Amino acid sequence: MKRENKITNILKKKNKVPIICLTAYSKIVAKIADKYCDIILVGDSLGMVLYGMNSTREVKINTMINHAKTVKKFAKKSLVVVDMPHRTYSNKSSALKNAKKIIKETKCDAVKLEGGKRISKIIKHLVSKNISVMGHIGLLPQTTKNFKFKGKNYIEQKLIFDDALAISKSGAFAMVIECVVENIAKKITKNIKIPTIGIGASKYCDGQILVTDDLLGFSDLSPKFVKKYSNLKKIIENSINKYAKDVKLGSFPSIKHSYR
Ligand code: KIV
Repeated sequence: MKRENKITNILKKKNKVPIICLTAYSKIVAKIADKYCDIILVGDSLGMVLYGMNSTREVKINTMINHAKTVKKFAKKSLVVVDMPHRTYSNKSSALKNAKKIIKETKCDAVKLEGGKRISKIIKHLVSKNISVMGHIGLLPQTTKNFKFKGKNYIEQKLIFDDALAISKSGAFAMVIECVVENIAKKITKNIKIPTIGIGASKYCDGQILVTDDLLGFSDLSPKFVKKYSNLKKIIENSINKYAKDVKLGSFPSIKHSYR
C-alpha cells in the first residue's frame, strides 16, 4: 500500500479505533509487529536499548539508517517511521538534507522529530517538500535533563498544549505524547485534529506506543507506564544457563545434533 493511503487509514482511526504502534529495530520484531501494528517506529531508543549508550543523543544517522532498512524490508503492511537523531534537524536545510537521506536510503514512510513550537517551522518545511512527519512532544529524550513526567502545573500544561497546537498546524500527520499527566493528554486529544500516540500519557490518546523490548521484559528500564507482557530476560538467562550446563556435562551436542 502507498504511504499516503497508509496515513489516510491512520487518520481515519482518530476518535474511532485505537492506533497500535510499537518500536522495532530488527528483522524478527519487524515481521511480528507488522502483523499487529498500524505504525512501526524505528526509534532512536535503540541507542540505549541495543547499544548501551547513556542517552539517545549519541545515536548517529547511519545507525538509524541501517536498522530502518532492515525493519522496512520485513514490515510490509505497517507505516514505518524513523526517528531523526539528535542534531540532524537543527535548521531547515540540514533537516531536509538528512530527512531525504533517511527516506531515500531506507524507503521508510516518514520521519519523527522531537520538539514542539521550537521546531514547528522545520516540520512545516519538511512537509512542504513532501516528507511525512510525526511529531513528538512532552518528555523529549534527546534534550531533557530529567526523565520525570511533564505537566505537573498549569504553566507546564500550557507549554505542552501550545507545543501540540504548533505541531498540528505544522502539517505533521500525528504526534507522540510522552510522559505527561492524564488531563493534558485528554485535552490535546480532544482539541487537536491529528492523532495522538501516547507513551506514558494515559488512555486518553488516539493510540499507544511502547518500546517493544520494554514490554517483552528485555531491557533494564522499567518505567511506571510500561506493562511487561513477558520476562524475556529470564527466559534467555534460563536457556543460556541450561546450554552452559549441557556443554559442561557433555550432553550437548548429542547424536540428534550431529552429522554421521
Ligand atoms: O525512540 C523511541 O523509541 C521513541 C518512543 C519512545 C516513542 O521515541
